Amino acid sequence: MSTFQAPKGTYDLTPPRSATFLAVREAISAPLRDSGYGYIETPGFENVELFARGVGESTDIVTKEMYTLTTKGGDQLALRPEGTASVLRAALEANLHKAGNLPVKLWYSGSYYRYERPQAGRYRHFSQVGAEAIGTEDPALDAELIILADQAYRSLGLRQFRILLNSLGDKECRPVYREALQTFLRDLDLDEETRRRIEINPLRVLDDKRADVQKQLTGAPKLRDYLCDACKAYHEEVRALLAAAGVAFEDDEKLVRGLDYYTRTTFEFVHDGLGSQSAVGGGGRYDGLSEMIGGPELPSVGWALGVDRTVLALEAEGVELDLPATTSVYAVPLGEEARRVLFGVVTELRRTGIAADFAFGGRGLKGAMKSANRSGARYTLVAGERDLAEGVVQLKDMESGEQTAVPLAEAAAELAKRLG
Ligand code: HAM
Repeated sequence: MSTFQAPKGTYDLTPPRSATFLAVREAISAPLRDSGYGYIETPGFENVELFARGVGESTDIVTKEMYTLTTKGGDQLALRPEGTASVLRAALEANLHKAGNLPVKLWYSGSYYRYERPQAGRYRHFSQVGAEAIGTEDPALDAELIILADQAYRSLGLRQFRILLNSLGDKECRPVYREALQTFLRDLDLDEETRRRIEINPLRVLDDKRADVQKQLTGAPKLRDYLCDACKAYHEEVRALLAAAGVAFEDDEKLVRGLDYYTRTTFEFVHDGLGSQSAVGGGGRYDGLSEMIGGPELPSVGWALGVDRTVLALEAEGVELDLPATTSVYAVPLGEEARRVLFGVVTELRRTGIAADFAFGGRGLKGAMKSANRSGARYTLVAGERDLAEGVVQLKDMESGEQTAVPLAEAAAELAKRLG
């Protein structure tokens, strides 16, 4: 193994590709920030207990994929595999739900860790931007979140994504369905592990990708037929609000999701250019999670969009984000004296808010101009002995190639004027 290799299942973000990641985080969070969501940041690790109780003891995330550790003091911690349980824990700890302003609307952005088998689009360290609306049961809130994610993806230029929508029922109707499903599944010809799953998480069996299992599942009781009237009405309202907003979705009654906390609305954003790891984002309602982690009843809904997969989706669609060059002015000094003078001009430009960079290391004109080009700067400032003797610097417009001598003392003001 090379010393310079990132750990298995991880990768580094380096320029220029890293700029796309920043732009994606920005684009996903912008609609949230415009819709009353406040920024929250929680630690990268939590007590194992939180995820075991919140995400669920029967999920792959908790049983197989969590990075757990025991501290020197004996605490059992886990690197966060997802954000919802942490955000709800933090909101409860800060009593945000008691401030009298429900729902508590929060957004976040950060690193998450899952010990998964790495493949294209599936990593052990990945990045999400998420949103949680805590403490309110209102179909318009579910619709709002789906609409904002759709808006975010569209603002990035993504088109080949689809929204899958389902309802998982609530604590009244889901147990009835669960039992009916278990009775059906117990009669099938299944392996030991799947038989165990029937007892702890039967809905996940519906998700089994194997053809021989899928064949046996035809005729399985459908959740749709078991939804109680309240869940049905709620779901119809979410669907109607999405339709009214012009957001297309597909009903997908197989959409179960890999976390145990969901009730009623669940949804996933899938992209058709990504192969097997096609879910670019997902979420849903989690009315029971607060009580599962020891809090009061707080019906809530949220989603998380995967930044890594969103970038892959952009690449798959060939979308090039319009990323403005980060440097406006590039200074190229020729000689010692010019280095001191132009470094001063660069400092002055930066203090007035103009993005400027400098040819460090005393390179020759040719190499320095190459760097100026690569920086994407609109203007280059060049000065040598003779220019300084005349009290001027050469200002080159990199688009037109036109070069003019500008008095040194006016260089910064002239650039500010030209750059608007
Ligand atoms: P999730 O579906 O587990 O949901 O993850 C959301 C998104 O994170 C996925 O759609 C995917 O884009 C990305 N993601 C997950 N695992 C990986 C991985 N190993 N490599 C790359 N990307 C990955 C949640 O995490 C829920 N907390 C969402 C939520 C918020 N539900 C309610 N509120």
